[in-house]
Amino acid sequence: MFDEIVQRWSEYAATVARACGFEGAQAGIVIGLSVVAGAALLYARRLMRALLTLKARSWAPAVSRMLSTWVKRNDYTGEDFFRADGADQATVTRRQQALARLAAHFQGTYPQSIAWGNAIREGLSDLRFTDAGRVPFPFARAMREQFNLCSVVTDSDGPMLRDLDGHWSLDVTGSYGVNVAGYDQYKEWMQRGWERVKGLGPVLGPLHPLVAENIAMLRSISKLDEVSFHMSGTEAVMAAVRLARFNTRRKLIVCFAGAYHGWWDGVQPGLGSEREINDCLTLKDVHPASLAAIRRMKHDIAGVVVNPIQSFHPNSPPPSDAILLTSDVRKTQDAHAPYAQWLRQLRAVCAECDIPLIFDEVYSGFRLAPGGAQEYFGVQADVVVYGKTVGGGMPIGVCCGKKELMRRFDPDHPMRLAYVIGTFSAHPHVMGAMNEFLRWVTRPEAQQRYDEANQRCAEWAADVNRACATRALPVRVVNLATVWTILFQQPGRYNWLLQYYLRAEGVTLSWVGTGRCLSNMAFTQAHYDALQAKLVAAASRMLVDGWWLDGLDQPERRKAMKSRLMWEMIGSLVQVPRPLKTFYADVMRRKHDDHVASHSHPLNQLFHLLSSSVFIYCYVLIFTDLTTAVTASLVALFVRQFGHAIVEPPCHDKEELLLGFNTPNKTMIVSAYCLIPLANMLAAENWSLATFMEKWPAIAQQWWGLTLVVVLGRVAYLAWLHDFRISMIWFVKLITDPFTDIKAYLPRTASGWRAFLPPYALDQATHKH
Ligand SMILES: Cc1ncc(COP(=O)(O)O)c(C=O)c1O
Repeated sequence: MFDEIVQRWSEYAATVARACGFEGAQAGIVIGLSVVAGAALLYARRLMRALLTLKARSWAPAVSRMLSTWVKRNDYTGEDFFRADGADQATVTRRQQALARLAAHFQGTYPQSIAWGNAIREGLSDLRFTDAGRVPFPFARAMREQFNLCSVVTDSDGPMLRDLDGHWSLDVTGSYGVNVAGYDQYKEWMQRGWERVKGLGPVLGPLHPLVAENIAMLRSISKLDEVSFHMSGTEAVMAAVRLARFNTRRKLIVCFAGAYHGWWDGVQPGLGSEREINDCLTLKDVHPASLAAIRRMKHDIAGVVVNPIQSFHPNSPPPSDAILLTSDVRKTQDAHAPYAQWLRQLRAVCAECDIPLIFDEVYSGFRLAPGGAQEYFGVQADVVVYGKTVGGGMPIGVCCGKKELMRRFDPDHPMRLAYVIGTFSAHPHVMGAMNEFLRWVTRPEAQQRYDEANQRCAEWAADVNRACATRALPVRVVNLATVWTILFQQPGRYNWLLQYYLRAEGVTLSWVGTGRCLSNMAFTQAHYDALQAKLVAAASRMLVDGWWLDGLDQPERRKAMKSRLMWEMIGSLVQVPRPLKTFYADVMRRKHDDHVASHSHPLNQLFHLLSSSVFIYCYVLIFTDLTTAVTASLVALFVRQFGHAIVEPPCHDKEELLLGFNTPNKTMIVSAYCLIPLANMLAAENWSLATFMEKWPAIAQQWWGLTLVVVLGRVAYLAWLHDFRISMIWFVKLITDPFTDIKAYLPRTASGWRAFLPPYALDQATHKH
């Protein structure tokens, strides 16, 4: 079919070319050029956009999407699970015991919840999705096998939840942001709201009179002209974007890096959706280049969408425990002044370019302040989207906007319309609960409740941080109003485990774990005190159980972990066959054992650094100048062995266990190397320097021959004594030692490029002797 179409068009193009006077090859060239020009025209717009926004673009969405199709599953199994940060065997054992204890605790404490979760997990895809995001993926499988946790709750009381097994826990999930005022308030609003509309019941289409009151309050809070109701935050964002496109007649939507706007793929250019998205541009948050890019692209931009909660951690994805990397991924900042300044600049640029500024306040609205982020940062948007708590406990999405941006009809073209509607829009029960909430939030006392709640949370964070500092715990709490997150001061691959320790202490966390937690107005001082005690206890337990390695040089450790992660990532892209992987692991383990046995003295390490540098140079030189290469490497070998013999003699023979040569072997080999020049000089019967220089190339060749005999002989001997694999482990270790030694013993100041070498030096950071 396609072939036929191409053929027909080619024939047609050829006819046209002939009609224009082109013949044969000329016609072919003309057709080719026309096709290229057509394609170029098609892509010119995208190319232009890419060029105009190059400096401002956040490449994270595109790169992460690309990686998502390449990166293969990589599960830590067995001891690897416990050694991801290069821990020693004693720590690995301690961790194994700790995890088994923790699993047994959960099994014993929550049997009914676990059984309930197991029974429904296969039938509830939502649960499997949230389960998958709880833990970084290499650890997920092993955790799932031991911890099939499920939060099944039956009651709430203040900020406490009761689970199926009858235990009460402190809830810091905040119900994804809905719970601002405390569950009891919402129960009351839902109840009272229902009382006010139950005469109407579920009638949809005709509106309940309460709707008018709600609209009036929402218009007053948002300071905008019109309101529309939707069923969720995602849907309200979709409505805002669609109406902006319709009313500006432009296509492009600008979002900022890391911001979440619900699960609609139109605003999800990064991970999470697979559809190609050309009409959503992700720019860097809080970056002047983004302002310039918006100015340049003003004729294409239908709206700039901002999620003000990003002020907490601009340009990073919403913090979650499912991160692979170390704690620096979770940077936050005290955002108020700089972010307010950024929003003011954005406001000015949007006004100047006549681009609608859309605040997605689904999370921040009624959370930061009664007037949401608009009030908190003092910036007025053109469209504001609310959700979560504004429903007074019921599901909701609200879009408020300026009149000209909320139109769904084109006054000049009656057939042009923006089809935005929904069955459950303005549901009476939702309107009732919302009315209760809005009445409460617009009372003057509400402001005081917000101020108190924000203040109490900030004081609590300061108290927790003091307590953690006193106990040398590497965790700190940072808050934005009643939103808080846990930062890990020490690099670690197991920071996500704190959520399990916290659960064991009786704290309920959402699926993003310690990444984002929420307090609410029902938290009294007693609740905060209890939460602090639980957090300190959980972190202390985790420290005792060995999940954070102590007494180490942190920048070095962070670098080592990153390098290991990078190698793991490359490994998962390339999909190295398993036998090769285990072979590599064995080589690296032997290098590590070798290091522990006899490479701890700084002078010995310096000698290794010198000799390794010479060896690497000789690896290249041997192809052009065998004489110098062999001689230089022999000198390097003597320097290396001198380090062992003189500086660390007691550990020397431990190498025997590690497949290497023992002292008598080494003495024999060294003697053989010395005998070669002696024999040559004896044969020449002339002991002058001139004769030695004359013989030198021949001597070097014999040294080279001896080297081959020693090395290949050892390979053959090990293959005979053990097996071929073991012999190859020794051989590969031997010839790669210069590279890994350099990485291990190079002074830290010159270590930038070391990340590109295999992750052997991780153990150096772990085992400082
Ligand atoms: C800023 C923001 N926008 C949109 C949404 C989507 O809201 P919903 O989950 O109600 O669809 C969320 C949800 O967390 C959000 O935080």
